[in-house]
Amino acid sequence: MRATWLTDIHLNFLRPLALKAFYDQIVAEQPQVLLVTGDIGESDSVVRFVTELGQLAPIYFVLGNHDYYRSSIAAVRGAMERLAQTPAGDNATWLPAHEPMRLTPHTMMLGVDGWGDARCGDLESTVQLSDWKLIDDFKRAKDDRALRIEICKRLGSNEARALRDKLELTSEAKQLLVLTHVPPFEEACVYGGEPSTPPWLPWFTCIATGEVLKAHAEAHPDQQILVLCGHSHGAGSFRPLPNLEVRTGGWAAGQQEYGNPIVQQTIEV
Ligand SMILES: [Fe+2]
Ligand SMILES: [Fe+2]
Repeated sequence: MRATWLTDIHLNFLRPLALKAFYDQIVAEQPQVLLVTGDIGESDSVVRFVTELGQLAPIYFVLGNHDYYRSSIAAVRGAMERLAQTPAGDNATWLPAHEPMRLTPHTMMLGVDGWGDARCGDLESTVQLSDWKLIDDFKRAKDDRALRIEICKRLGSNEARALRDKLELTSEAKQLLVLTHVPPFEEACVYGGEPSTPPWLPWFTCIATGEVLKAHAEAHPDQQILVLCGHSHGAGSFRPLPNLEVRTGGWAAGQQEYGNPIVQQTIEV
């Protein structure tokens, strides 16, 4: 099965002609399914974009932090659950709301959004994320670093718990595809071909989901696990165990601006 992987496409930055050209580029890959690892648009556009992508090929996706901008996590997740009840939802599946799905006879697929969980790097970092201004859940922590860190940790733990519950249902699958937005290991958090630096790592790595993935992979050495993620906008691959590979999707080489989405890869599943 031809599966075309997209991540961090941030389609809200594209004007109509550029958006059409990007959709044409996706169609040229002749995908049978689209796998999208978050940062698709923002809260007011993500439903529209996943619906449009679903008209190109069935899309299976997770959300990224930008998809929650100008709203709350609960409100956007509610919108995903409502989308599932509409005809557009037949072709656009938000994986966190689903049990693991069988993509091919040997391959199961699942997804969780993930969250930068402030468990590595420099927590005194002066990096300021737009998340903290634009996602309602962070507004109460506006001037409170400790509370912000606590919120990030809680979000990461929730994602890890959801991931563990899903992984438990996949024991008999020979191959497992995991979609998540936030790199689950420091080594998978790359930008411009280099590892992300300590000030960025707390907000760009989800240590909690990484711990769950590693424990699952160790307990199931015969299962081949491929994790697709994004968020750090740098392409890379990290293999913490022989049966666990994490592929991080990024921008085109030399590109540092929103509004230039690319197809990451079309893989044969
Ligand atoms: Fe992004
Ligand atoms: Fe992101």
